Amino acid sequence: MKKLMAANWKMYKTRAEAKATAEDLMNRIDGKLPTDREVVIAAPYTALETVGSVLAGKQNCSLSAENLYPAEEGAYTGEISPRMLQDVGCVYALAGHSERRSIMGETDELVGEKVAFGLKNGLSMILCIGETIEERKAGEVQKVIDRQLEAGLKNVPADFASETVVIAYEPVWAIGTGEVAGEGEIVEAHGFVRKKLEKIFPEKANEIRILYGGSVKPGNCAQIIALDNVDGVLVGGASLDGESFSQIALA
Ligand code: PGA
Repeated sequence: MKKLMAANWKMYKTRAEAKATAEDLMNRIDGKLPTDREVVIAAPYTALETVGSVLAGKQNCSLSAENLYPAEEGAYTGEISPRMLQDVGCVYALAGHSERRSIMGETDELVGEKVAFGLKNGLSMILCIGETIEERKAGEVQKVIDRQLEAGLKNVPADFASETVVIAYEPVWAIGTGEVAGEGEIVEAHGFVRKKLEKIFPEKANEIRILYGGSVKPGNCAQIIALDNVDGVLVGGASLDGESFSQIALA
């Protein structure tokens, strides 16, 4: 199983900025990325084609969207379909990032529709899950993970290839705060995710990658990816700079 080192650029970067960062990153990792590593850049829609052209032909480097809408086409002003994303080179898409859940009001059910629709239409899907600080304090971490996985993986086509479904566990209180989750907290949550996956997909659970996200930096990445059931990282702030993300990708 390749470790997946994913960047999430959120609503940052013009095309020129995105091109410069992607080129800088590729130059820094060129010839150094171990064969058991995969790099993914999730870029804003306007920069997808530009970043895709920088990644083209680079081994184990793929382009991702940050979102999609679960319909082929139609009267959905402002939305974008899996086919349009593939048309500009996307291999992956995120679904259910906590910012979309909390700011745009996305429900567990909508997130599940996105995951299933993306997979059915040829994208690999990174399902983001994770509890808020209030939920953690209330002792509800497992309850939240259970609910978000149940709904997020509902209607996933039975014959999916295991590398096309990725879970990103991102405790909301660790995102963009500089407060990375403790090793024990990560191991516990990832272990619980794995157990739940075993219940949902008994045959494929061990091959589904579980990423950690939330204040991953060059200085803490190596320790995090060495933990049990951590198969990669999803990185926001520290992925915006080519040098910083190259250190993470090669950690
Ligand atoms: P962060 O963001 O690395 O800036 O905490 C992670 C994410 O939102 O995926």
